[in-house]
Amino acid sequence: MHHKKSFQIEFQPLGLRDRFPSGQSLLDCARQKEIDLVSLCGGTGTCGKCKVQILKGSVSEPLQEERKLLSSEELFSGYRLACKTHAKSDLVLNIPPESLSAPQRLQVEGLDIPVFHDPFIRTYPVSLHAPSLTDLRGDDQRLVDALQEQHGVSCNKLDESVLQTLSPFLRSTGWEASVAVRDTEIISTVPLDSGNLGVAVDLGTTKIAAYLVDLASGHTLSAKGIMNPQISYGEDVIARMVYSQRSDKGAQTLQKMVVDALNNLFQEFCQDVGVKQTEGINEVVVAGNTAMHHLLLRLPVAQLARAPHVPAVSRSMDLKGRQLGLSIAKGANVHLLPNIAGFVGGDHLAMLLAVLAEENPGPMLAIDIGTNTEISLVTEGMISSVSCASGPAFEGAHISCGMRAAKGAIEHVRITDNQIQYHVIQDARPVGICGSGIFDALAQLLSQGLVDKGGRMMDDHPLVRKGQNGLEVVLADEIDGSAPSVVITQKDVRELQLAKGAIRAGIDILLKENGLLAEAVNEIIVAGAFGSYLDISSAVCIGMLPKIPLDRFRQIGNAAGMGAKAVLMSETKRKKAQSLAQEIQYVELAGDTGFQRIFMEALDLG
Ligand code: FES
Repeated sequence: MHHKKSFQIEFQPLGLRDRFPSGQSLLDCARQKEIDLVSLCGGTGTCGKCKVQILKGSVSEPLQEERKLLSSEELFSGYRLACKTHAKSDLVLNIPPESLSAPQRLQVEGLDIPVFHDPFIRTYPVSLHAPSLTDLRGDDQRLVDALQEQHGVSCNKLDESVLQTLSPFLRSTGWEASVAVRDTEIISTVPLDSGNLGVAVDLGTTKIAAYLVDLASGHTLSAKGIMNPQISYGEDVIARMVYSQRSDKGAQTLQKMVVDALNNLFQEFCQDVGVKQTEGINEVVVAGNTAMHHLLLRLPVAQLARAPHVPAVSRSMDLKGRQLGLSIAKGANVHLLPNIAGFVGGDHLAMLLAVLAEENPGPMLAIDIGTNTEISLVTEGMISSVSCASGPAFEGAHISCGMRAAKGAIEHVRITDNQIQYHVIQDARPVGICGSGIFDALAQLLSQGLVDKGGRMMDDHPLVRKGQNGLEVVLADEIDGSAPSVVITQKDVRELQLAKGAIRAGIDILLKENGLLAEAVNEIIVAGAFGSYLDISSAVCIGMLPKIPLDRFRQIGNAAGMGAKAVLMSETKRKKAQSLAQEIQYVELAGDTGFQRIFMEALDLG
């Protein structure tokens, strides 16, 4: 029998993978890939900091040290100490954020948009008359009357959670309360001066960005980005949808992962601003792509995963946070933005909301680049949108040395006189290449004649060599046998062509449908975390973006997050989101007769 001497280990959420000799500890494997796992005790099994979670594959039996430092619950969920565990098969590992000493780069900032501050939720201080023999009103009525008398606010509904605690609460505070009102419903009663907080969430396939907002003033108090923990169950939406369909438990697991992650974020937010309980959060707004939206709500996804990809729900939704298990004020709601189509979700709508807040005569293209790329063309007040399957190349997946934008990733590449120069995130030793680096590299290969327009590598060029898997260009050479070399292969170039071809075809079809030439476009807005690190001139050079003057491009960061925040802070913006969703014309690429031809043309570089 053939005995396997090495195993493939995939480190998530970094997206790094490689083969390692069997018997080597997971900590050593991680170190070889320059992953900074926290290991205070230096790998002797005493600090308990090097926790990793085994998601797939089998590993050595837990040792005494591990049984001491890990709870049985942790062991049951696959948590192990990396320094005391080795692989027994190919593995997929999840590295929890607390085990990583260098955080990943997660962008949360976006353009500041003017928002008229008219929040959906308002809080009012009230002081009630205590009951007496001549005043026998129920406590609910007493509260409703006080709101009317003291603030002119009419409410006709009290959330059941409020009713359950109202009587003892009022008696404990001396008949004073701060009352949160949503529309005509009382959603919470808390002690005076408890504040009025809201959270806006951009729920992405790879990243989750969240913003804590003071609903009373409209100020953003804190912003945070984390990796979407569902990543360990699949890098793209299709894989996750397939997983959720397999069993009820699968769907439940995926939902719980995001809910737990959000609850953690809420907790951290409240700590940041010195609020004791997440009970102070009176509303949450979520903008996500259609698949993330459905997985969060555990809506059916079978019809979404298969052509013609229809959402189960396209309208906006409001539900109680407690129905999802969110730890916010008991009566608080979660608002989900409407979905435009199967692959154009509330996140794109939120981005448009942010972009359209500024006066723009158009024609304008707004692009959110990711595993799925959504593109909208705004011209003469009309908006049409497409979604293209650009694939996970931007996240470094399916690229031989690809990785996410984290420490050790090559993020920029320049080639002059056959000399390759690159920049590595945090100036570390290069271990892989991330999305912006990959596209930069391709542009350089093209302009320096290492690949031709058709994407073929030139085997007679001095920088092109024959590697194990065909032709390749070495960007960073192996360092004394420890750090691996970072290369771009012929196959990588093909992968990038597919990604850029899909995006360019989407752009060209929108232009064609609207009878416009690229030159007529006066602004191209590139949003999303990846979009803000992308070198626009490289993207234009390889033909992913149309060749128009560079000053017509604008990179605006996380616009979806900004849009979600606007919807949280303003009832007007919330209504605007509804009407926008109605106005947008969704163009199905599969239904476009010219698509195949346009896509084939778009594969060419330059
Ligand atoms: Fe300290 Fe593993 S490094 S327990």
